[in-house]
Amino acid sequence: MDSNEVMINIKSLSKSFGRIKALDDLNLEIKRGELLGIIGPNGAGKTTAIRMACCILKPDFGDIVVDGYSIHHDPIRIKSMIGYLPEEPNLYERFKAKDLLKYFAELYGVPKENIDGRIDELLELVGMTERSDDRINTFSKGLRQRISVARALVHDPEILIFDEPTMGLDPATANSIRNFIRTLKGQKTMILCTHYMEEADSLCDRVAILDKGRIMDVGTPEYLKSKIHGDVILKIKVQKQGDVDQFKSKIMQFESAGAVDFVDGEFLISLKYRNEISAIVDLFGNEVISVNTKEPTLEDVFIHTVT
Ligand SMILES: Nc1ncnc2c1ncn2[C@@H]1O[C@H](COP(=O)(O)OP(=O)(O)OP(=O)(O)O)[C@@H](O)[C@H]1O
Ligand SMILES: [Mg+2]
Repeated sequence: MDSNEVMINIKSLSKSFGRIKALDDLNLEIKRGELLGIIGPNGAGKTTAIRMACCILKPDFGDIVVDGYSIHHDPIRIKSMIGYLPEEPNLYERFKAKDLLKYFAELYGVPKENIDGRIDELLELVGMTERSDDRINTFSKGLRQRISVARALVHDPEILIFDEPTMGLDPATANSIRNFIRTLKGQKTMILCTHYMEEADSLCDRVAILDKGRIMDVGTPEYLKSKIHGDVILKIKVQKQGDVDQFKSKIMQFESAGAVDFVDGEFLISLKYRNEISAIVDLFGNEVISVNTKEPTLEDVFIHTVT
């Protein structure tokens, strides 16, 4: 990648907490104007990595270079470039919504004459104009999340980092946050950590799969889906699982089979074409409860990559 194109360059990042290796030689480049998704199981190291990019936590080894500045040498500069929505936003409970935004606007050096206009704009954007004079401690989880999004944007940063922005939100609020992220695509460089595979698939330009502090794979959602899966996923639910490994190796002898996983009593088989489906189903004889086919999703990729 051309160095001008790279906005965030994560280089050989490692971090241990006691005996736990949270990040293990992590390398990742995020392009200017790109929306990069990070997915991975609980404890994979997603939050640890982004806290380092936000200069909240230091690595044991490695560096992150943000627009040419190193987290080791220019943390203040980097912080001013990033809007960060933490996993568990810590808001000042007794502040009114608009006063909280004003406080952060002043802290980040937004010119005084712009502050009121900026706050009105942000409150409107997150649908909180009518609650602007209410205190944070009177807000529900979703309303807090909306204010946290506004807070992350208050200084109009070039880079936005969202750690599970729609976690625990009702579907309508989650959608409005997703739509909002979509409107920023191309204008900002963004990182989105999420456990919602559809969210990652529909929003992100590229997705990185993190497991045990390492990148397992990275690419466009289409690339990831096409890489391990073919045209169709065959799902066979069985009564008794029997010897899973033996079934897996039998299935893999079929020419059409690209990959096999076994999750919750169900074999998930990616097929390059459909004409061997009935022969594969026959392997399970009377143990079959149900048979379905579907298009491959990012969830299939996740399951295949990290389990
Ligand atoms: N301050 C800390 N002290 C000790 N261990 C920590 C600390 N922060 C993170 N860890 C450990 O590091 C590992 C990575 O944690 P991290 O929060 O980065 O995971 P994550 O990918 O964000 O997971 P989740 O999807 O659950 O949010 C975990 O095993 C976690 O318990
Ligand atoms: Mg996390």
